[in-house]
Amino acid sequence: MSLMCENKVALVTGGGSGIGLAICRTLAREGASVVIIDVDKEVGEAARDGILQTGANAFFVQCDVSDAQSVKAAVAATVESYGRLDSIVNNAAISLHAEITDIDDAAFDRLVGINIGGVYLFLKHGIRQMRKQGTGGSIVNIASVGGVVGTPLVTAYTMSKHAVVGLTRGIAVEQGCHGIRVNAVCPGPTHTPMIEGYARDKNTTLEALGAELPLRKIGQPQDVAEAVLWLCSDKSGNTTGSLVMVDGGYTAQ
Ligand SMILES: NC(=O)c1ccc[n+]([C@@H]2O[C@H](COP(=O)([O-])OP(=O)(O)OC[C@H]3O[C@@H](n4cnc5c(N)ncnc54)[C@H](O)[C@@H]3O)[C@@H](O)[C@H]2O)c1
Repeated sequence: MSLMCENKVALVTGGGSGIGLAICRTLAREGASVVIIDVDKEVGEAARDGILQTGANAFFVQCDVSDAQSVKAAVAATVESYGRLDSIVNNAAISLHAEITDIDDAAFDRLVGINIGGVYLFLKHGIRQMRKQGTGGSIVNIASVGGVVGTPLVTAYTMSKHAVVGLTRGIAVEQGCHGIRVNAVCPGPTHTPMIEGYARDKNTTLEALGAELPLRKIGQPQDVAEAVLWLCSDKSGNTTGSLVMVDGGYTAQ
């Protein structure tokens, strides 16, 4: 049986934890060589070691996605090691829980730098490389249900995810003529360290968050990873500019 991402090179930001980690493992399982990008060295190295133990290819680059020079260097390191870049998964992001009246300005700027700036930088440098190769590519941006609907107390995060949707659609239209596809996956509440923090801030539980959804459960990182796998693979070859909802029905209500 052939693997879905055989001979492909995929770079995943925020690949050390949560949804990003599941994406790295899944792409590696399906034959991709995986470049794990994370600001946290410990989780990034652990993710790499876990993948290497399965016999797949992976390496880790410590990188803050909001830093332009580091992003440029991470793309260069990918090409130096694997010779090419076929897929980028822009997954790294942070959240910020505060009413608009109370948002700390520095925290707002940091969120914009990571959640929007990081996606922009990897699009810019990654697409330059894909264009040089001339073989197209597939980019998946991890947005959120917050990319299409509003939620109280996470307005800055919601704004940033709407921006990710805008980047997805804009670049899909702009770069389609080069065979570069750009799609977004919009997870709903998914069991990771990020949602545990959100539940704590809201003084609620994961079970209670799940009970509000049509499927009556929160999602798992693997649910998101399987959608990303399809979008990175050639099986989604006629799909670009799309939003794939992996949200338990959250936005259908
Ligand atoms: N968990 C959810 O319920 C949920 C819902 C909707 C969307 N999402 C989105 O899914 C993605 C992954 O979320 P998660 O829940 O796995 O989060 P997480 O906090 O569990 O993991 C995020 C990873 O990104 C890394 N990271 C943070 N800032 C970084 C930076 N500046 N540079 C490089 N790496 C950085 C962290 O070290 C961590 O490994 C995010 O884009 C998030 O907005 C999550």
